[in-house]
Amino acid sequence: MTHPRPDIHRLFRPRAIAVIGASHDREKIGFKILQNIVTAGYSGAIHPVNPKGGEILGLPVRASLAEIEGELDVVCTCVPAKHVFDSVRACASRGVKFNLVITSGFSEIGNAEEEKAIVAHAREQGMRILGPNIFGMYSAAAALDMTFGPGGIVPGNVAIITQSGALGLAMIGKTAAENIGISAMVSVGNKADIQESDLLEYLVEDESTLSILMYIEGVRDGGPLVEVLQRAARVKPVVAIKSGRSKRGAAAAASHTGSLAGSDEIFEAIMRQCGVLRAESVREGFDLCKFLARTRTPRGRGTVIITNGGGIGVLATDACEKYGVSLLDDAQDLRATFGPVTPSFGSTRNPIDLTGGATADHYDRALDAALANDSIHSVVALYCETAMFDVATLAPMVAQNYARYQDAGKPIVFSAFGGGDVESTLGRLSRDRVPIFSDVYDAVHCLGGLYRHFENFAHPLRRSDEAPIDLAVVGEILAGARAEGRTFLLAHEGRRLMEAVGIPLPRSRVARTLEEAVRAAEEIGYPVVLKVVSRDILHKSDAGGVALDLENRDEVIDAYQAIYRNCRAAVPAANISGVEVSEMVRKGLELIVGARRDPGFGPIVMFGLGGIYVEVLKDVTFRAVPTSRAEVLTMMKEIRAFPLLMGVRGEERKDIDSVVDAVIRIATLIRSCPGISDIEVNPLVAYEEGEGSKAVDVRVLLAALEEDGTDA
Ligand code: COA
Repeated sequence: MTHPRPDIHRLFRPRAIAVIGASHDREKIGFKILQNIVTAGYSGAIHPVNPKGGEILGLPVRASLAEIEGELDVVCTCVPAKHVFDSVRACASRGVKFNLVITSGFSEIGNAEEEKAIVAHAREQGMRILGPNIFGMYSAAAALDMTFGPGGIVPGNVAIITQSGALGLAMIGKTAAENIGISAMVSVGNKADIQESDLLEYLVEDESTLSILMYIEGVRDGGPLVEVLQRAARVKPVVAIKSGRSKRGAAAAASHTGSLAGSDEIFEAIMRQCGVLRAESVREGFDLCKFLARTRTPRGRGTVIITNGGGIGVLATDACEKYGVSLLDDAQDLRATFGPVTPSFGSTRNPIDLTGGATADHYDRALDAALANDSIHSVVALYCETAMFDVATLAPMVAQNYARYQDAGKPIVFSAFGGGDVESTLGRLSRDRVPIFSDVYDAVHCLGGLYRHFENFAHPLRRSDEAPIDLAVVGEILAGARAEGRTFLLAHEGRRLMEAVGIPLPRSRVARTLEEAVRAAEEIGYPVVLKVVSRDILHKSDAGGVALDLENRDEVIDAYQAIYRNCRAAVPAANISGVEVSEMVRKGLELIVGARRDPGFGPIVMFGLGGIYVEVLKDVTFRAVPTSRAEVLTMMKEIRAFPLLMGVRGEERKDIDSVVDAVIRIATLIRSCPGISDIEVNPLVAYEEGEGSKAVDVRVLLAALEEDGTDA
């Protein structure tokens, strides 16, 4: 009998804990963890376990779990790898709910079998494993520091989930140094059982967590992760740092944790789909989380830049454009608001330029005016060091104005640029959690993140859409290919598949003789295209197996004979089963719609500009499946060529609805048919509105069979 899964809340709020491998040796991990638990002030029962017995840090040491009375919610295992399975067995039979396996030496070094066996055993007994290969976890809700970090974690409102151990450990010290308060920090290591999605279930609800930072190397649980991230990002800001962006980085990540780092474009697009903010570096991630945890949602999109320097004002304007921050441009309103507080040789056009002569007093008055104006929803305040501004007045000016803006619920960010005194003021203010940065781009990036998060509230969670497809026919087609030992579909099978899925195709027939080819061409109507049908010829054009734009019967006869001649010469052993005669497709906009099974995210769908240059232009984007029609439309707007769909230079708008429909149908197919690994419709030719679109070429690859020989 499999036991029910324990409630994830107990991991963060355990009533009693044990440390297996608690050591008497002050240099060992088993000692450090116990020391952190005791020092951080956990108030539940703490049981060190070690066969040597005795006492550590004043706590009686139990020789085994059997000596401990009462329930045990969480156990931290820090014994060498060869003892871990025994320890897990003992915990599972003792009814322990969560086991944090600190120990290294499992899938990350190729020992995946034992890791799997440990997790399978634990799950059967209703115990869940965090790790292995982790530094532990911290939960402010229980004042529990069960890590071997440096201690001194500042409790607060930012939750961190990290796949990297060393970086996570370093984050403990770094967050403390920067006074970033932590609500929870969890090391997920090899993610053999507990995944980010499980932890997010708790963090979404945890009221003390106001923003969530995730450091991800590779995704394992794509489906549940996408589902919970979509919910989470509508409740609180979620920021993801993904390493393995570069090809070399991805290879390093894969060997590092034994997980496959997914392609960066896919990750990026799916994070957008979820409403998750992406940080390029740990620094950016910290800045965003710290700012977003403390800042209320703006009431609108009108931002004003106030500066004493024209140059940084322009830089900030560029940064606003880059990060999607809209500058208020009602010249009359700006003049009325800032005219009285700006010198005549300054500027009241956004950026508001107080000029190099500005003092703290000038800033106070301009910031007062911005605060009082309800059509100004957020402010970027910039300062360049000048001899006119007494640096000693910088800290009080910034701190006081920040406090007033916080009270009023109006977001503000500061940037101050100058010498040593400015830098040290900035450091102090930042430690006091005032959003101030030396680079204007960093300041505006935070505000941009706030606005991107704000957009999540404008989009309610989109329901998923599916299209009816004929799965019985799909099954037949796949079985036919399998019976012939193929892992790809032939052209006519691909066409039949599109019919079963409901995507329109050009008119077409397969002809086995010259007479049949001529008859088919006359029925379809000229001009037509002829293509060789042969499982042995994958690259038909290269083999001379394609003839385009045939206008009449004579051209069809010539082309038919030439195709047979060419293909026999190019691939002498090829078995040619006929020639496909199809309508010559009218010119339209060539798009690509694809889908595949991503190792991390599971089924995903791709859309972009198609045709022969797809590899060069790479104007494509992705979504996790299931998805909705509304989301597909958002996805389509992401490609650079989107204006072509809307109609440019006198061309009419294309039939966007028919393209959305094709994407949804391909998404439904990949989701409902595990036997298919890759589908690519290229080109899908889109015509003017009302005239639909047609799948001109289709490639389908089949997935490896399940062990029982079925299409799963
Ligand atoms: N039950 C309870 N205690 C046990 C035990 C068992 N079955 N077997 C051994 N112990 C005790 C040992 O007696 C020892 O205590 P002692 O020092 O008082 O004698 C303690 O557990 C630790 O065992 P030891 O053999 O000394 O191991 P260690 O401390 O050198 O290493 C790990 C243990 C888990 C730290 C090590 O194997 C490891 O995996 N290190 C890497 C951890 C890591 O980097 N994780 C990822 C971070 S991001």
